[in-house]
Amino acid sequence: MGLVIAIDGPAAAGKGTLSRQIAETYGFQHLDTGLTYRATAKALLDAGLSLDDEAVAERMALAVDLGGLDRAVLARHEIGEAASKIAVMPAVRRALVEAQRMFSQREPGTVLDGRDIGTVVCPQAPVKLYVTASPQVRARRRYDEIIAKGGEADFDAIFADVRKRDERDMGRADSPLKPADDAHLLDTSEMSIEAAFRAAKNLIDAALKKN
Ligand code: DC
Repeated sequence: MGLVIAIDGPAAAGKGTLSRQIAETYGFQHLDTGLTYRATAKALLDAGLSLDDEAVAERMALAVDLGGLDRAVLARHEIGEAASKIAVMPAVRRALVEAQRMFSQREPGTVLDGRDIGTVVCPQAPVKLYVTASPQVRARRRYDEIIAKGGEADFDAIFADVRKRDERDMGRADSPLKPADDAHLLDTSEMSIEAAFRAAKNLIDAALKKN
């Protein structure tokens, strides 16, 4: 079986960029598992259905097509908020985790990023990274990103939002966000994405030698 690389961390810590770089470097398949929660939430929103009905949300989760996940379409803030709400539902998680596990077995290797990859989805992954940064730094990156694109942003509102999202992701009963015991911590508060990538690459190269 190919190598499985599990990458977890809170929103806006840089794990998406890092995951894509790793997948590209090694020619591995990449799944941003947040998009599976977002696609489920979008299907509910589009159909005008309640975000509180677990059976309905489970049906939408079972219908998610991993081949049709479009980051640009799913990036909207309301979809992220709705995703964070339905992500607390055990039936939704079961359905999506099953699909994510199937994905993780693809050849020649896979990179999965999310909140519970190293703890729940792929606990046997030989490489586990937990990418984090302080809430201030993460909010600042979000803010800078919006401004760089010519948009308008309110730092305090973004900061409050980052904190609220963290609370929901870390505080839920089913699969809360936390580092696996054997995860390598990469705090990107004061580390460039290049430095984080180099650290990750060393770990992956060592795991590939053993594989
Ligand atoms: O990483 P993101 O912002 O696209 O994730 C959206 C929401 O999905 C996030 O608030 C929590 C949830 N999520 C999860 O519970 N487990 C994952 N493996 C990935 C995302």
